[in-house]
Amino acid sequence: MAREELLSPSEEPDDVAVLLDEPGLRPRTLAEFVGQQELKGHLGVMLGAAARRREAADHLLFAGPPGLGKTTLANIIAAEMSSNLQITSGPALERAGDLASILSKLEDGDVLFIDEIHRLPRPVEEVLYPAMEDFRIDVVLGKGPAARSIPLDLARFTLVGATTRTGLITGPLRDRFGLVARLDYYEVSDLQSIAMRAATILDVDIDEGGAYEIARRSRGTPRIANRLLRQVRDYADVERDGHVDAQVAADGLAFFGVDELGLDKASRAVIESVCRRFGGGPVGLSTLAISVSEPTETVEDVYEPYLIQQGLLMRTPRGRVATPAAYAHLGETPPPTISDPAEPDSQPGLFESGT
Ligand SMILES: Nc1ncnc2c1ncn2[C@@H]1O[C@H](COP(=O)(O)OP(=O)(O)OP(=O)(O)O)[C@@H](O)[C@H]1O
Ligand SMILES: [Mg+2]
Repeated sequence: MAREELLSPSEEPDDVAVLLDEPGLRPRTLAEFVGQQELKGHLGVMLGAAARRREAADHLLFAGPPGLGKTTLANIIAAEMSSNLQITSGPALERAGDLASILSKLEDGDVLFIDEIHRLPRPVEEVLYPAMEDFRIDVVLGKGPAARSIPLDLARFTLVGATTRTGLITGPLRDRFGLVARLDYYEVSDLQSIAMRAATILDVDIDEGGAYEIARRSRGTPRIANRLLRQVRDYADVERDGHVDAQVAADGLAFFGVDELGLDKASRAVIESVCRRFGGGPVGLSTLAISVSEPTETVEDVYEPYLIQQGLLMRTPRGRVATPAAYAHLGETPPPTISDPAEPDSQPGLFESGT
């Protein structure tokens, strides 16, 4: 019996739209990938060793906030291994058969990238366990008591998973990755290099000062650095003579509503809401999300990590709390109930459960 007949997937998974935010800007080799030195070191050794042994590299999981380079790294891994890359995502794989069909078509050394892997339905995730560990899946034929399971051998492939939510990855799945890498926000100097590199590709006339101004307001995120660069370029082309220095960059960013810390309107709305509508908190995530008209996941994954990292917001058992730094950033005086997070003793009750 042909493999395809055995598998009968519910339907072909949706062609996952590869979000080509900046098609030409995506680094193609590890050497072009800026920053994340430690991770690059680990990857270089893993990929080099696999190539020498002529084997598929171990499975890899990349976790971290949006725009830090997870998809880029998946592409780089396939390119460095000279392998084919198959791309899919957790939500696109609705049934076990969807995944089984993709897995059965892989060839030796192929890289399978599953984006948003934390959103795989549980029955689909269970198909991955033996596939990752033993390169085997069990195909179930028939239904009910008459059902039979037939083992099917797979090619030796490398799974690359990406997630914005490490906390939602189940233990059994996590444990099957040879490397779990957490991507952190980038240093300003790295973002400056990223902006300079992008400027060369996009043919933007920018100096180091201009790139620095963009870098320090990019919220640690390469995708944002690239976006701000394009905004500043537009501003420089229309309002100035096209050259981007520190002053032009600062004026352009102010024009597009990006503030001194790099907060745009949407992220500023989060702290404004906590400070002004909810008296500094604590306010529950879902209430906060409704107040800024965003889905809870967006508030939690996209806006909060950077606000927390900057010390503007805290997550407490009773909800989100603004820090004095948040008030300072808004140019306001904090109410007496908001005290310095460095002195937790001065906020009795904040970490107690219940009310
Ligand atoms: N280390 C880097 N060096 C240079 N450019 C980078 C780097 N990381 C990311 N970029 C740029 O940022 C853009 C966004 O990166 P990418 O799509 O890989 O992020 P992601 O982590 O997959 O985000 P998401 O979670 O939203 O899918 C890329 O198109 C690329 O141009
Ligand atoms: Mg991605």
